[in-house]
Amino acid sequence: MEEVQLLFRRLLVLFSSLFALVVVLFIGMLYYNPDAAPPINDTLIEPLTLWQPKNVLYELSSMPPLVKQGYFLITETSNNMGPLVIDTNKQFTGNNLACTNCHLKSGTQAGSASWVGVTDRFPQFGGRSNTIGTIEDRINGCIERSMNGKKLPLESKELKAIVAYMEWLGEGLPANRKKEFKGYAPIIIPNTAVNLEKGKVVYTKECALCHKENGQGIHHADASKGYQYPPLWGADSYNDGAGMNRVITSAEFIKGNMPFGQATWDNPKLTDEQAFNVAGYINSFDRPRKKNTENDYPDKKLKPVSTPYGPWVDDFSKEQHKYGPFLPIIAHYKEEYDIIKTK
Ligand code: HEC
Ligand code: HEC
Repeated sequence: MEEVQLLFRRLLVLFSSLFALVVVLFIGMLYYNPDAAPPINDTLIEPLTLWQPKNVLYELSSMPPLVKQGYFLITETSNNMGPLVIDTNKQFTGNNLACTNCHLKSGTQAGSASWVGVTDRFPQFGGRSNTIGTIEDRINGCIERSMNGKKLPLESKELKAIVAYMEWLGEGLPANRKKEFKGYAPIIIPNTAVNLEKGKVVYTKECALCHKENGQGIHHADASKGYQYPPLWGADSYNDGAGMNRVITSAEFIKGNMPFGQATWDNPKLTDEQAFNVAGYINSFDRPRKKNTENDYPDKKLKPVSTPYGPWVDDFSKEQHKYGPFLPIIAHYKEEYDIIKTK
């Protein structure tokens, strides 16, 4: 009798275990959905290890010598390859700006055409010359226009040092962050022309404190360091062939970076319209002329719509190319040539 009871108990345990197993399997099957499996990709892992650009000042003493030379060329430009250099053969930039007056935080600030990852984007097609250009060509583009100077020779130590610095900045940049560090954040282009009166109001309220009413900025107390607040127009500013002289490009930079210390690309202070009007205002004043700009954009169809100098392959006026409205010009190129223009 006892043996029968024991057998019965064992069978009971066995059956209940089997039953539990079946229930678990059944529930598992009910909830199993292969598509809902969590993707193992960067978006999940990223927040744990948010990559940051280098802290350049912190690494100044440990960076390789060529990189360090590059750092001083781009931050104290006037003093190292500009008008303040005594040897006139070494004066390449023509104004006293520093590269980093536009490429903020030593070229690491997202939304200011940062150089983090820039060397990976070149060689790249450029409409201005209608060729595949190298990073060296692109640097010389800013030297001839933003810095109103003359090209650095390809074999020069200066050019090599600047490229080495840019390469160093991009070390370790994760693929999924590349876009964030490229170019400017776009604005929604207003469907009106620039209103210079409104631009002046914005300028007086938001810009004049640093850049001064006359747009000439303020020199650094130590003149060899260039400007504390750089000029926005006049003889020591970028020339008319520079990207910053195009209202759309300039408005994007301003919205994402100015007033300095108060605005970033993801937390701007000005509206698109304010940035647009003040960009037109600062570019309404005289500045140095770039020679031979008629040769820019050999394929004139590729010229950005807000390039303020001709020739163009459309019938819009010089005035409209400078101050807008730009949407009709953009629509024209879409219709006529199926080209989508954003600047
Ligand atoms: C007056 C402002 C200004 C100054 C000063 C300036 N740049 Fe630029 N730079 C620009 C603008 C505008 C662009 C184009 C940004 C865009 O449209 O995305 C640009 C683009 C670049 C690019 C390409 C960036 C990319 O992602 O494709 C490089 C490289 C560059 N500049 C290097 C330099 C160097 C080196 C100097 C100093 C010798 C310099 N720049 C000085 C305004 C400036
Ligand atoms: C608090 C001071 C301050 C204010 C206010 C300010 N800026 Fe700037 N701005 C700077 C500084 C500083 C730089 C150079 C950044 C650097 O070198 O790190 C600069 C750079 C610039 C540049 C590129 C360099 C050049 O000289 O062309 C432009 C364009 C510009 N500012 C436009 C504006 C406009 C437009 C406003 C108003 C909406 C404005 N800024 C408000 C301090 C200021």
